[in-house]
Amino acid sequence: MTNWIELDQNVRSWIKEAGERIRTSFDSELSIKTKSNRNDLVTDMDEATEKYFTEAIRHTYPDHQIMGEEGFGDDLHTLEGVTWIIDPIDGTMNFVHQQRNFAISIGIYDGAVGKLGYIYDVVHDELYFASKGEGAFMNGQRLPELEAVPVEDAIVALNALWVTDNKRIDPSVLGPLVQRARGIRSYGSAAIEMAYIAAGRLDAYLTMRLAPWDFAAGKILIEEVGGVVTDLEGNELDPLKKSSVFVGKPELHQTILNTYIKK
Ligand code: IPD
Ligand code: CA
Ligand code: CA
Ligand code: CA
Repeated sequence: MTNWIELDQNVRSWIKEAGERIRTSFDSELSIKTKSNRNDLVTDMDEATEKYFTEAIRHTYPDHQIMGEEGFGDDLHTLEGVTWIIDPIDGTMNFVHQQRNFAISIGIYDGAVGKLGYIYDVVHDELYFASKGEGAFMNGQRLPELEAVPVEDAIVALNALWVTDNKRIDPSVLGPLVQRARGIRSYGSAAIEMAYIAAGRLDAYLTMRLAPWDFAAGKILIEEVGGVVTDLEGNELDPLKKSSVFVGKPELHQTILNTYIKK
């Protein structure tokens, strides 16, 4: 049986330590490599941070499963027992170019159920946390339930790429939403964008392709404050698969889906 209270204390102390190591790394030179293309960056800190978490988890919870972006986890096919889904640095491009707007993201599943979600904005020292059925918090302060807003008053997070020629969506689909919404923002970290919706700073977020480690924690957080998380067709996300992701406040999610996406 998992002692969830003790596990939560462990995650918090590991996140604080990892965050401290990342902040300290600003003083030394980063080693930067590229992955699938010249803009897909990874640094020695992404790898060191994931290694730090996987070693701590394997030592303390040898029977838990781990999925991590940088490959230090297991090759997972099913959600059985306890599964940790980890993005050591979400927003690596921001980490490299801006030294801000990136986060550590950890979602913990109990079987198929998203149980605990942590998004740590390292530079602002803001820890967003949610526990299934017990609410969501930012640095210990409870986040209120999200309220519906009309599209005209909504700030929507969207990468400009999705309204230009690209291989995933016809650029004319989201153009009218961009014109109608109060404002469009793009932070370059899916975890931060989801945390900002949970905290009421953004109203919706649409993106064409994310991996499980990008959304695992955010989904738990959003659902605890009454927000909606689906793929772009309105289907439930599979926690083990890559897909499009569409997050919104209640009602706004439905309106955007019906009026702009499925029109
Ligand atoms: C990326 C960020 C970005 C999103 C990309 C992700 P990474 O994660 O979340 O906002 O648009 O699709 O890959 O690679 O910086 O962890
Ligand atoms: Ca990456
Ligand atoms: Ca990521
Ligand atoms: Ca990452």
